[in-house]
Amino acid sequence: MRMYDIIKKKRDGSELTSEEIEFFVNGYVRGTIPDYQVSALLMAIFFRGMNQRETFDLTMSMARSGEILDLSPIEGIKVDKHSTGGVGDKTTLVVLPIIAAFGVKVPKMSGRGLGHTGGTIDKLESIPGMRTELTRGEFFQVVKKVGFSIVSQSGNLVPADKKIYALRDTTATVDSIPLIASSIVSKKLAGGADAIIFDVKVGSGAFLKDTEQAQELACLMIDILKRSGKLSRAVLSDMNQPLGRMVGNSLEVIEAVETLKGNGPEDLTKLCIRLCHEILNLVGMNVTEEQIKDEIVSGRAVERFAEFIEMQGGDPRIIDDYRLLPVSRKVVEVRSVRPGYVDRIDTEAIGIASVVLGAGRSRKEDSIDPSVGIEVLKKIGDYVHEDEPIVRIYVSEKSDVDLAISLIHNAYGIVDHKVGFREIVLGVIE
Ligand code: URA
Repeated sequence: MRMYDIIKKKRDGSELTSEEIEFFVNGYVRGTIPDYQVSALLMAIFFRGMNQRETFDLTMSMARSGEILDLSPIEGIKVDKHSTGGVGDKTTLVVLPIIAAFGVKVPKMSGRGLGHTGGTIDKLESIPGMRTELTRGEFFQVVKKVGFSIVSQSGNLVPADKKIYALRDTTATVDSIPLIASSIVSKKLAGGADAIIFDVKVGSGAFLKDTEQAQELACLMIDILKRSGKLSRAVLSDMNQPLGRMVGNSLEVIEAVETLKGNGPEDLTKLCIRLCHEILNLVGMNVTEEQIKDEIVSGRAVERFAEFIEMQGGDPRIIDDYRLLPVSRKVVEVRSVRPGYVDRIDTEAIGIASVVLGAGRSRKEDSIDPSVGIEVLKKIGDYVHEDEPIVRIYVSEKSDVDLAISLIHNAYGIVDHKVGFREIVLGVIE
């Protein structure tokens, strides 16, 4: 088999066989196929696409390129959750303790933030003492005891994705639906769960800006998982404004804990309850949204979160005393230059503003400051007076405050006419 022929075949719009796909993935991981040939093939896939069978084969070849986690030491059905990424997205911190309280096990690997979106591992590491790198034995022990654990992704999972993603990033081939689907699902398959729920974000702060593309991605990911014998479902959610009110690491932990106590913002609470409902139904539990709300009110979910923090070395007292979390005391208000209704928030710009304050990283090797971030005071549909604060920013000496303020001013669109509030859940795909 020759890589040249595979590139030519896809360039001319033909379907690749399973063997051809396996050949190029293995060859690239082993280093026998060079970057320039894989780049050419990725560009051919970008323009010609891949059908569902090809995308499934690509995903399987990528998943098999490294270790596939064996979760059999943990009894019962294991669930995983994936968000396509957004601004202020702390749903994992809320959803996992709730579904664990219903007896479902969630051994979860998460990533760090990169670009304008945050990452769960960075958020957790703002809790003093919290460890996110556990041995396999410790990871399983936390899941068995608490019902869930969150650790950072192990280096040995899906090496094919690491190499291919890095190449896509430099060859303008990231935004291809089959390449995105195979990248995401190969990592989920390697994580070893039986059922996977996707939170596919749509809008100005999301990776995918329009609903049709998000639906296409969700359907494709579900199809791949169905072909590999796994249960899955996707919730499409709105990312045309930050989720909840807090953006930034410690601030998001506080908001997640408030939500677990039943005091969270409406959009975040609604989305988390819906995600829990879909997960529990997916694994055959007939639980209503009312029962999920009762579980929150009972305090059992927040208790699980405290147990999880303690078992991973963190200080569980943060649940009742937020002063134990690093939150900057230096606060600046960003005020509206005109009165009116908030019509638009460029959410990617809000994410970038949080990065320039120090809450995220522009390059992988950058360090982050857990104490800084953004509190969104006005959301779409809200009325704002002239000179009224729209956003509060938590800053440090290293923050580029002027740039953050200018990004936030430009991100807000304020109009004279009334604007409707946005629905957070846009749909569910089974
Ligand atoms: N997230 C991933 O993991 N992979 C992609 O290709 C895009 C988003």
